[in-house]
Amino acid sequence: MTAAAIQPKGTGAIHSSAGAQHARIWGVGGFRPDRVVPNAEIVEAIDSSDEWIQERSGIKSRRWAGPDDTVVSMSEAAARDAIAAAGIEISQIDTVIVSTVTHPYQTPAAAPIIADRLGLRCAAFDISAACAGYCHGISLANDMVRGGSARFVLVIGVEKLTDFTDVTDRGTAFIFADGAGAAVVGPSDFPGIGPTIWGSDGSQWETIKQKESWLDVRDQGLDHPTIEMAGQSVFRWAVWSMAPVARQAIEAAGITPEDLDAFIPHQANMRIIDAMLKQLKLPADIPVARDIVETANTSAASIPLATERMLREGEIPHGGLALQIGFGAGLVYAAQVIVLP
Ligand code: UT7
Repeated sequence: MTAAAIQPKGTGAIHSSAGAQHARIWGVGGFRPDRVVPNAEIVEAIDSSDEWIQERSGIKSRRWAGPDDTVVSMSEAAARDAIAAAGIEISQIDTVIVSTVTHPYQTPAAAPIIADRLGLRCAAFDISAACAGYCHGISLANDMVRGGSARFVLVIGVEKLTDFTDVTDRGTAFIFADGAGAAVVGPSDFPGIGPTIWGSDGSQWETIKQKESWLDVRDQGLDHPTIEMAGQSVFRWAVWSMAPVARQAIEAAGITPEDLDAFIPHQANMRIIDAMLKQLKLPADIPVARDIVETANTSAASIPLATERMLREGEIPHGGLALQIGFGAGLVYAAQVIVLP
């Protein structure tokens, strides 16, 4: 019997869930660790210079977590900020999705622990999509709210990359940093999250990865594994492959580049941001996230952190349209147009 011909047993009358017609982001929040680390503080260990780092990446300084800042504590702070911005009660959250690659436990996930810190016993799980994780989370939350499996979803992007960075590695030590960003996704009267354009190229999985697997660490008695990156390969992929993805997201949302009020790409490298901007032919005066200057690359946290800052500083309008795109280890990517909360 083919799948198409299958008949459910009994009456076949099980119920399915029904959700809201549309979903939108209700609020965003962020947590930046207190400690500001300028380039001058890290150049000696990698035989580099402030000039080189600024020219090649745009980074002037970054935030590093203190000893008491963890993936869980930073997430809790960002989550409380986002929930306050959304204007809802914490108890209204019924799903927590956490995107991270730096939670130091293989298991359990960070999400249930963060939910508990917020006093919640709701559905809570982690996703692993590196620097594209926040946009993956927004896509899932959008579908869950519309599909009826959730009403208010807390999406968190969080990294404590300093726990997995070799401070003597020239290719990563100046790039990676720490922080957490969060968004509340809930029901809406209008479409607030456009179709997500996403995908992967696992043939390039080795270009950004934990140096050795946990099994190699155990079997070969290796040191704590850090994250390594073939910077040039990732750079080329990002510059040539991500602009078409962003373009598709604009088209899928049924708008033109002129309709956009903000461009909020993952904060990987200022030169990647500028190259994408040029290829996309966005309006010359469009506000562009350049949070990388003072925040460096916080992977899953970079887009919500930049969004939170731009909204707070009045650089982008509430209710405006923003194109957001995440890309990174996997290699994976996800992009969508959203209505700014
Ligand atoms: O977040 C996930 C996605 N990640 C990304 O998208 C990151 C993508 N990659 C990048 O952003 C860039 O590749 C980096 C910023 C990591 C590196 O910049 P680059 O322009 O690709 O540098 P490079 O590796 O091509 O090196 C250029 C030169 C080399 O010297 P020669 O061979 O030209 O004499 C390197 O030895 O710069 C040298 N170099 C450095 N010099 C000072 C490499 N690293 C450093 C350093 N300080 N840290």
